[in-house]
Amino acid sequence: MFITKDIQYVGVNDHQVDLFEGHYIVPEGMAYNSYVISDGKVAVMDTVDAHFTDEWLGNIKGLLGDKAPDYLIVQHMEPDHSGSIKSFMDAYPDATIVSSQKAFSMMANFFEGEDFADRRLVVKEGDTLEIGKHALTFVAAPMVHWPEVIMTYDPADKVLFAADGFGRFGALDVIGENSKEDDDWACEARRYYFGIVGKYGMQVQAVLKKAAGLDIEKICSLHGPVLVDDLGYYIGLYDTWSKYESESEGVVIAYTSVYGNTKKAVELLAEKLEAKGVPAVEVTDLARDDMAEAVEDAFRYDTVVFATTTFNNDIFPFMKEFINSLIERNYQNKRLAFIENGSWAPQAAKVMKGMLEGCKNMTYAENEVRIVSALNDESRAKIEALAEELASAYK
Ligand code: FEO
Repeated sequence: MFITKDIQYVGVNDHQVDLFEGHYIVPEGMAYNSYVISDGKVAVMDTVDAHFTDEWLGNIKGLLGDKAPDYLIVQHMEPDHSGSIKSFMDAYPDATIVSSQKAFSMMANFFEGEDFADRRLVVKEGDTLEIGKHALTFVAAPMVHWPEVIMTYDPADKVLFAADGFGRFGALDVIGENSKEDDDWACEARRYYFGIVGKYGMQVQAVLKKAAGLDIEKICSLHGPVLVDDLGYYIGLYDTWSKYESESEGVVIAYTSVYGNTKKAVELLAEKLEAKGVPAVEVTDLARDDMAEAVEDAFRYDTVVFATTTFNNDIFPFMKEFINSLIERNYQNKRLAFIENGSWAPQAAKVMKGMLEGCKNMTYAENEVRIVSALNDESRAKIEALAEELASAYK
């Protein structure tokens, strides 16, 4: 695949991985992107996961034949991209690795002391590597997603190589090679963003500010399709997400239910919210649905209802994991409501509010629903009142 006349794709698709990063389901597989920039000198942008080293080296060989690359630019040391560095350097002994100082420290740890001391070029913010007419400029992007990350801007072709930034779950042979072919970018890019980078909104904002000064026509992430056309759409979403602003109007109801009674309350609330014209109502069973999708929705929409049971003098484990996942990603700027269930000493709402109390700029619904074992007229009336209160904000 040609990105531009001089930049070609040499990445791989992974349909074997069960959990990406040991954590995330990837029903569409995963892409580990890598690119070759051919000029007077040849630079390879990042490697791939170690399970795909041979395929990747074959892609490079297929493209370059007997010509050897001069540079391997390592933007990120997480093993999904760094896993084939050693094999590449063995295959091309005259190549130089170009990366940040922090990345070389990590390299020594990942490769048992091998930090390629005699074959390396350390770069930092603003440094340039000229390989011909392409003068590659490096942009420090710490914590997007690890501290050593650099991005690379090619002013000749107006391409930003964005490391994990603008990444998306999904293999390119399923989702398409560029954003014109990919009609569902935001969904899986959002789940990726909030799962993997969500904690680091401030650092993403810093990179977006630097990117605003660059003339960019294409964004080449290490995951997902090459972004072309209407880059403002993708950059705008990243801006919204990294500012922790809500992207969409609507209510997420995240629940756990042991015997189905809390579920009945949730279904009743969802029905009422829809009937009252709430723009979107998303219901997620935290024990059975994808937790990363629930986290994504909780950041996307402006209102979240937490519904769970009192359990071991605390709350049900899946709800605890969910709330912790939000808190550790700097959850803020939302309207929250609570439904609790308890058969003898209900206290789930108190526990949930206590967990969330450190989050910035939260507003709390006045109506709170308490279910004692199962719905009754009193709790049904509370659900009606809560539905009315939440829906009134959209009128
Ligand atoms: Fe795609 Fe942070 O690795």
